[in-house]
Amino acid sequence: MPIPAAPDAPARLVVLVSGGGTNLQALLDATADPAYGAEVVAVGADRDGIAGLDRATARGVPTFVERVGAHPDRAAWDAALTARVAAHEPDLVVLAGFMKLVGAAFLDRFGGRVVNTHPALSPAFPGMRGPADALAYGVKITGATLFVVDAGVDTGPIVAQTAVPVADDDDVETLHERIKTAERAMLVEAVGRMVRDGYTITDRKVRFS
Ligand code: GRF
Repeated sequence: MPIPAAPDAPARLVVLVSGGGTNLQALLDATADPAYGAEVVAVGADRDGIAGLDRATARGVPTFVERVGAHPDRAAWDAALTARVAAHEPDLVVLAGFMKLVGAAFLDRFGGRVVNTHPALSPAFPGMRGPADALAYGVKITGATLFVVDAGVDTGPIVAQTAVPVADDDDVETLHERIKTAERAMLVEAVGRMVRDGYTITDRKVRFS
């Protein structure tokens, strides 16, 4: 799992973004090679006017936007987002800089097939401020974590991690950029293995098949 709908067909990825979309771009670039084994069939966002959506459009990939504010409450937004993603029949959903927590409906529908990338070495520094919190703590090494999304905040089973050094003169921006360079490579490598080889999750341990 996940298993593409037809043997030899590329796995269908739906990618959700909230910002610049450099992680999305890395996936778009990787999927240009048929040997990668996946295609990005749609890109969704929780806001308009972001570079991530432009990157998808530039590749001819369909996009959609589901804003929280367009719904009476968070559960209604989650249900609408679930329906939008489901319409594209993904084998794997990739949250790539998606700055919202998906909810119960989303996890009921796609649980075990949703991954998120976080710019810190879990379980350290969960939440929205991973690079800033690592810098403030004074760690010498930080990095990025790809995990299978569960109901917690950056708590799901870990698929892959990559480490980067913290430099003495780093600020949040320079540190986050260094993390993102490593994060993109990790994301492309790990998602490729997930779709080509399949994977299992047992007692929090994610193993490629
Ligand atoms: C990444 O570091 C991601 O882990 C974090 O926000 C950044 C998004 O970067 N949540 P981009 O939009 O993919 O360029």
